[in-house]
Amino acid sequence: MKNTTMNMHDQIEEAEVNILHTYNRFPVVFERGEGCYLYDTEGKKYLDFAAGIAVSALGYHYPGYDEALQEQIGKLMHISNLYYNQPVIEAGAKLALASRMDKVFFTNSGTEAIEGALKAAKKYAYVRDGHAGHEIIAMNHSFHGRSIGALSVTGNAHYREAFEPLMGGVKFADFNDLESVKVQITDKTCAILTETVQGEGGIYPADKEFLEGLRKICDEKDILLIFDEIQCGMGRTGYYFAWQAYGVQPDIMTCAKALGSGVPVGAFVLNKKAASASLEPGDHGTTYGGNPFVCAAVSKVFSIFEKDMILTHVQELTPYLEQRLDELVEEFDCVSGRRGMGFMQGLVIVGRPVGEVVKKALEAGLLVISAGSDVLRLVPPLVITRDHVDEMIEILKKCLK
Ligand SMILES: Cc1ncc(COP(=O)(O)O)c(C=O)c1O
Repeated sequence: MKNTTMNMHDQIEEAEVNILHTYNRFPVVFERGEGCYLYDTEGKKYLDFAAGIAVSALGYHYPGYDEALQEQIGKLMHISNLYYNQPVIEAGAKLALASRMDKVFFTNSGTEAIEGALKAAKKYAYVRDGHAGHEIIAMNHSFHGRSIGALSVTGNAHYREAFEPLMGGVKFADFNDLESVKVQITDKTCAILTETVQGEGGIYPADKEFLEGLRKICDEKDILLIFDEIQCGMGRTGYYFAWQAYGVQPDIMTCAKALGSGVPVGAFVLNKKAASASLEPGDHGTTYGGNPFVCAAVSKVFSIFEKDMILTHVQELTPYLEQRLDELVEEFDCVSGRRGMGFMQGLVIVGRPVGEVVKKALEAGLLVISAGSDVLRLVPPLVITRDHVDEMIEILKKCLK
């Protein structure tokens, strides 16, 4: 390896030698973060409205967060799931309380939370019917992860094509179209899976009637309803979980990303019904999942959310964020609309590639991401202020001209 005085260009060249090229990364190497800003290795400052793809809910070095992790490193990092540890007990209790659900299984990522949720649903139906061979209904334009199981329920051919055949028994329906779900239901259906707010697909919030309709179908037919809250959960919409804004509770929920606000952790959470008749000892496991280190982070995130009223902050600042984004829709022909909930917002870009705007923003010191084919996605840390919103709008205005 070359020395650390390499400039950014050299660092990127070195990265491309050794790191498998599965991402077309932006040409920037980040070194540190502070509050809602990131700094690259050449000292340039960036306002972060990407938050590591909706992960860094508390920004960088939020008071108390680093200290909690350092304290846990000093005590214990990992012991496996053969034994109990104090942080997992605390984190599990806090996640169960925030979701008002019953049982938590901690994973290492969102993808693994989806895998676990699918297995729990399949096992539930196996217990219910006394045999395997069940089907899952998922949504077109959804995204649930890159493993074979998660890809199987991801409704986007672009991600799937090269890896077929995937897991069988998956049918796709249209998001927000209840009839398209109904026609896919058979005696074999064990679960309906949907993001509450579609993220990668282009920031599409679910309609209330759609979620209510799914709940009704699932109750009538003893099918499990699974909400993927990996991107939209943990405060992003101003509620711990987006489904709480709709008043429609799933039987199983997946979460990750902001759950640890920077450490790799996810979870699937089951209500009583799903938990009491699905996974048992021997059915599922993970070496790392729920280890003391990541759970100390999860526990601290919940403490900070409560102490500093993060959900209230998101709810209070959302109208201002939306108002300022709507100004862009008014002012620029290339911004044809805005969609979203809370701090999960998308601007629809027309007449020019969204990637071009994202690149210009980066050059101008603002991190935003694209979603779908034409959406500029804003998923900032949940601790941004009005000043950050104003700064973001000023930079975007320059980029959209
Ligand atoms: C809704 C949704 N589900 C699942 C995943 C996969 O999560 P991870 O990348 O942590 O495996 C993502 C990631 O973007 C996501 O947005």
